[in-house]
Amino acid sequence: MRIHTFPTPQSIVDPGETVRGRFAVVIDTLRATTVIAAALAAGAERIIPVAEVEEARKVYAGLPEGAALLCGERGGNRIEGFHHGNSPLEFTPEAVRGRTLVMTTTNGTRAILACAGAAKLALGAMVNASAVGRAAGASGMDVAAVCAGTRGFFTLEDVLTAGAILSASGLPEDGMDDLSRLAVDIYRRNAGDLTGALRGCAHARFLAEAGYGKDVEYCMGLDRLDTVPYYAGGEIRLTSN
Ligand code: MLT
Repeated sequence: MRIHTFPTPQSIVDPGETVRGRFAVVIDTLRATTVIAAALAAGAERIIPVAEVEEARKVYAGLPEGAALLCGERGGNRIEGFHHGNSPLEFTPEAVRGRTLVMTTTNGTRAILACAGAAKLALGAMVNASAVGRAAGASGMDVAAVCAGTRGFFTLEDVLTAGAILSASGLPEDGMDDLSRLAVDIYRRNAGDLTGALRGCAHARFLAEAGYGKDVEYCMGLDRLDTVPYYAGGEIRLTSN
């Protein structure tokens, strides 16, 4: 069993070797994969992740009227003309039940699309870390945990989350690469004060300063959800193919 953790999608040097055929987990704790888990838990039917804003508008325009919502951010804020931004607290059952969400974010949705060649592609965050970890551990496949990072740079909250997921997976540490071992180690060292560790992360501070402090608090909630979103065939649902 081989388990690799990538600090960013850009650091995947050989996707054929390290992602294709594996159980991959894309992690963007602040905030895209938290939003995805929360929206599906709130009853959204499916989420279509796209890389670019104009592409999102086109996909939305092709869907039946009233069936879909445009969601996402640039610079952390809701995109002009979109129904929702990237705050998990917006995705209530009243707002999203039964709807298709067309979503584009700066890093998270791009990271998902970069891993589309995985055998199974789950989306993880602190809020569903144990559920995703158990699914990875039960898959019997090699695992690739792919942190979304920020614009090609490593972010601590995603690596801490990879550690939470791998800790819950029950996968053998002797199959883990060095970053997986480091992720598990820093997660365990910070498990007593995860909130403190996450609050200090650069993107958490950026979001708090931009007025999204409540989102950060939500995103820190270890295992508040039991949902495991899967990407397959261009869309994200709670079931895997
Ligand atoms: C992203 O995908 O880049 C993030 O989710 C950014 C954010 O916090 O909205």
